[in-house]
Amino acid sequence: MKLCMIGTGYVGLVSGVCFSDLGNDVICVDHDKKKVEKLKRGIIPIYEPGLEELVLKNYTNKRLKFSTDLKDSISNSDIIFICVGTPSKKNGNGADLSQIYNVAKEIRGSISKFKIIITKSTVPVTTGDEIEKIISQKVSKKLFSVVSNPEFLREGEAIRDFIYPDRVIIGTMDKKSNNVLKNLYSPLISKGTKYVNTSRRAAELIKYASNAFLATKITFINELANLCEKIDVNIEDISIGMGLDKRIGGRFLRAGPAYGGSCFPKDTKAIINTADKFKTNLSVIKSVIKSNDNRSSLLLKRVFNILNGNVKNKKICFLGVTFKANTDDMRDSASLSMIPSLVKKGAIVNYFDPTGEKYDLKKLKNVNFSKNINSAIRDANLIIIHTEWNDFKSINFKKEVKSKNFIIFDMRNIYSHTKMKELKIKYFGVGH
Ligand code: UDX
Repeated sequence: MKLCMIGTGYVGLVSGVCFSDLGNDVICVDHDKKKVEKLKRGIIPIYEPGLEELVLKNYTNKRLKFSTDLKDSISNSDIIFICVGTPSKKNGNGADLSQIYNVAKEIRGSISKFKIIITKSTVPVTTGDEIEKIISQKVSKKLFSVVSNPEFLREGEAIRDFIYPDRVIIGTMDKKSNNVLKNLYSPLISKGTKYVNTSRRAAELIKYASNAFLATKITFINELANLCEKIDVNIEDISIGMGLDKRIGGRFLRAGPAYGGSCFPKDTKAIINTADKFKTNLSVIKSVIKSNDNRSSLLLKRVFNILNGNVKNKKICFLGVTFKANTDDMRDSASLSMIPSLVKKGAIVNYFDPTGEKYDLKKLKNVNFSKNINSAIRDANLIIIHTEWNDFKSINFKKEVKSKNFIIFDMRNIYSHTKMKELKIKYFGVGH
């Protein structure tokens, strides 16, 4: 099939490349000329394992194209995916849909034969209705249908999550569109992926509800970890013991720092905004947001306690600063609230991240980027393991760290308490 992906960020580029790898002709369109030129040269603007090879393969065999010409790309495609950003509004209440609506206005000027227009970006419930209204101001409803097809791609696992999704959700009551999309996704369905057809609004809500629930699950185990620290219980045992219950499941049940990223913080606030608009109180999600917002200051208190209440001139090393492993994304990373507070209190912070130096941290005084793990930990008084990169899982601390009484605060529990005790290393985890 002939697809047009509007927007070449995580969603548009990954989905577009994967659709082309499934045999479709895909044009990825972006109004950022520089970005498109780089993509044509095989330079990928996002850190996503495996993406570069996939772009090269499909661009070379001409199934994948890049363009800045939206009109031309739409007229040459049957299915149009809207994959532009829907960031939180500056005032924090709800999603900023200006890019979505601008694209809808551009699309309506390029429809001459039947098109299926799909929102793949995460959009609040009823956005599809709004897009339909905008387009039908200029185009007969016989010439298009607006469908919701949310993505469930995790940064760092996006290609795998596209090729092996748990489900494909198609929100439309239009039979013709539903059949076309069932056909488009047939290579995945034939490998066992569930295909679920719902109303458009239901599909829009499934996306937000899924992210809000995952955020709830993580916050639940993070709060239990706080209790475990008080009663000498290991939260890892709780995660395992609970997770074996098939109704609960062990994934997204690992205690850590506050959850971050470009989705959970944004999507939990956006669903609250929708509920407020429709006068419904989603009190559980509100408490999840509040609990997660407090988590960084709670873990900071723990850092102060570990250092006997005084961080002044203490050398603190952060291993990993992004919001999770296998990504270079700093959006809403817990490190962005913890590191400034520590240096403000006089600490000296060294950090290493496998994805390199971070712009967000460059402007901070007494925060330095180390080129490798050993130089980052060498002079540390306290080593904070902030993300769960494999690179951090077998460090010979005793050999590499100069000071004899250094301390480890493992915010991802990648090491075992017992082993650290045997090595006579002062070690703190989360939830034990
Ligand atoms: C998320 C959803 O998983 C994905 O389906 C959606 O399409 C986009 O948002 P992403 O934000 O890339 O994906 O990251 P994810 O892997 O979900 O992690 C989100 C946050 O939860 C990270 O800060 C991560 O460290 C944290 N997390 C995750 C935990 O603290 N514990 C866990 O067990 C899992």
